[in-house]
Amino acid sequence: MSQRLHMRPLEELNYADKRVLVRVDINSPLDPKTHRILNTNRIEKSVPTLSHLLDNGAALGILAHQGDTLNYRDLVPLEEHAGVLSGLLGREVGYIDDVAGPAAVEAVKALKPGQALLLGNVRYLTEEVSSFENAVTLKPSEMLDCYLVRRLAPLFDIYVNDAFAAAHRNAPSMVAFQEVLPSAAGRLLFDEVAALRKVMDAPARPAVFLLGGLKISDAFSMMLKVLETGAADTILTCGVTGIIMLMAQGADVGEAMRTFISDRSLDVFVEPARTYLRDYPGRIEVPSDLACQVDGGRVEMSVAALPGTDIYPDIGRDTAERYARIIAAAGTVFVNGPPGVYEDEAFACGTKRLFEALRDTDAYTVVGGGDSVSAAARFIDLKDLDYVCTAGGAMVRFLSGIELPLLTAMQKAFENNI
Ligand code: 3PG
Repeated sequence: MSQRLHMRPLEELNYADKRVLVRVDINSPLDPKTHRILNTNRIEKSVPTLSHLLDNGAALGILAHQGDTLNYRDLVPLEEHAGVLSGLLGREVGYIDDVAGPAAVEAVKALKPGQALLLGNVRYLTEEVSSFENAVTLKPSEMLDCYLVRRLAPLFDIYVNDAFAAAHRNAPSMVAFQEVLPSAAGRLLFDEVAALRKVMDAPARPAVFLLGGLKISDAFSMMLKVLETGAADTILTCGVTGIIMLMAQGADVGEAMRTFISDRSLDVFVEPARTYLRDYPGRIEVPSDLACQVDGGRVEMSVAALPGTDIYPDIGRDTAERYARIIAAAGTVFVNGPPGVYEDEAFACGTKRLFEALRDTDAYTVVGGGDSVSAAARFIDLKDLDYVCTAGGAMVRFLSGIELPLLTAMQKAFENNI
């Protein structure tokens, strides 16, 4: 079972003439040179909650982040985000490039019902960034002493969180305000959790998990969890995860692929792969053919004919057809990680075929993680999927059975009637 959870729905509180602090996740992909927003998906998904609050007479202070310590070039002001929000909401969202300093405090105090103000990038503050989170592990109650909470909590009547994509962050903006303000969960937070719980706790059968991509530790932690709990009837492995499964079965994948794997320290997954194949017989599907790179072009190879001379940027056509048939007959399909290097035309057909199968199946379909959503958007209309999750790291942790600090904080606020 996934994390037990009760959260107060947005609709249960009265927002008329209240100052509401709402935390959203509108962290968006940026153009590396211009730092302009490339994709407004997360901003769009934040709109229903913000509209509800404004329509019901709240004065809104909006908190959000962009970038991270590892992604420090994206730690930029949120002015463009405010502009996009204004367009989507059909009303002006002000911006102040200050999170909780004197200018932000004055601007919040001046807010009138129906007005919205986006505060500066909350990750300007040391106490919000993941390096601080890992070095100084504070409980939410201890975070009441953080600058952000000391400065902002007294200005607001209610706290709303709609930032599931950052639910894995034990940061003051995510988990501390619930200690002192009446708190509710936004609509996106509810929807994301409901879609993932449906996959984890009560999937229509057979439930199929398609795991590919390069984030092997994510794929392996989810795989183990859904095999152990029985949430998955079948795992379709592809991408580097598929190659590691083949290595675990004793296939000779060749020098180039072995070097690719060991350069990234991914060989540590071969032993767990062997264990999973042994412990869960018949539930893990492994590629029967691959597309090998030869002089930059595509050469199909059956697994029996391995090794190839280079790496394998795609699954082979037979594997794609076999997996597509499994997807067609499924009751639930969850996808994380593209099956191949779909950006390269020569190696896109495995990914294209499986996303088309996803589009055409009657199963309940969920795709999550930035790379997978971009891959899906390239080949099909995202509207043909049942749910597209905005989260990456938070979703992987949820599906791996790891407790998420945000959900714990929302549950505690619910139980204590805060
Ligand atoms: C994301 O992009 O996954 C969320 O915004 C959280 O970002 P983070 O992993 O940098 O905390």
